Amino acid sequence: MATLGDGSSGTNAGPSGKIGPLILLGPPGAGKGTQGKRISDRYKIPQISTGDLLRDNVTRETELGRRAKEIMARGELVPDNLVCDMVATRLRQADCQRGYILDGFPRTPAQAGWLEAFLESEFFDKPRDERDGPIVIRMNVDYNLLKMRLTGRRSCPVCNTIYNVHFQPPRVNETCDKDGTKLIQRNDDRAEVITQRLQAYEAQTRPVASFYAAKEQLVTIDADRPMDEVTAMMVWAIEGE
Ligand code: AP5
Repeated sequence: MATLGDGSSGTNAGPSGKIGPLILLGPPGAGKGTQGKRISDRYKIPQISTGDLLRDNVTRETELGRRAKEIMARGELVPDNLVCDMVATRLRQADCQRGYILDGFPRTPAQAGWLEAFLESEFFDKPRDERDGPIVIRMNVDYNLLKMRLTGRRSCPVCNTIYNVHFQPPRVNETCDKDGTKLIQRNDDRAEVITQRLQAYEAQTRPVASFYAAKEQLVTIDADRPMDEVTAMMVWAIEGE
């Protein structure tokens, strides 16, 4: 197992010195956002959450946000073409040069195929053995635990820190430890929408794991474990050996 140091050792998977791309694949509530933030801080690479990007578009009332709003409120997936265009724009930004974490993308086989073609086109001038393939981490969590995590999740609208009333409560009830802001519950963390989101995962996202398993790019971890243990398993998956 890799040494769990402070992340400054420069260890990394890719031949070009990049990290990843690292894909976090898992059902709603698996801990993609929580672990993505930790990995982002450790390796100093951006965490690209399609859920956060879409929610930002909804808040800013962009054309994309207007189209996505009702779909997200129902717990269904936003159409592939809209999400892929949004991701392409984000991945072309300069901070992605050293690698990035994809949190919540790809989420359908069509998105996975699109990403593969996108990465190929970005690497077209490099020999195959100098290209960095994705590291795909599938986070498995028991169904009932997922429901508890989602119904108990609260977040700070100012600094985006994630809490959980069951597993990681703030010091003062419903209040952010860092800036004292009143915590909020996500619109889609209501029981009926959670059921729909978990069904969408089973039907549309689970096959994405098979796509990467066939390419031997998939690592599966037990994300039922406490947060620090999950982080350690992820570091091992990234650094290898
Ligand atoms: P998105 O925002 O991606 O939501 P999600 O996939 O449903 O995932 P969550 O954010 O709910 O969970 P998470 O895995 O990040 O868990 P977290 O770390 O917060 O997507 C929202 C919507 O946007 C979708 O429904 C869809 O409509 C649309 N969308 C997004 N991407 C799309 C795409 N690619 N294509 C089409 N549509 C798309 O943790 C959850 C809770 O558990 C927290 O309270 C946390 O504190 C706690 N917790 C985490 N880990 C642990 C642990 N180890 N132990 C105890 N508690 C823990």
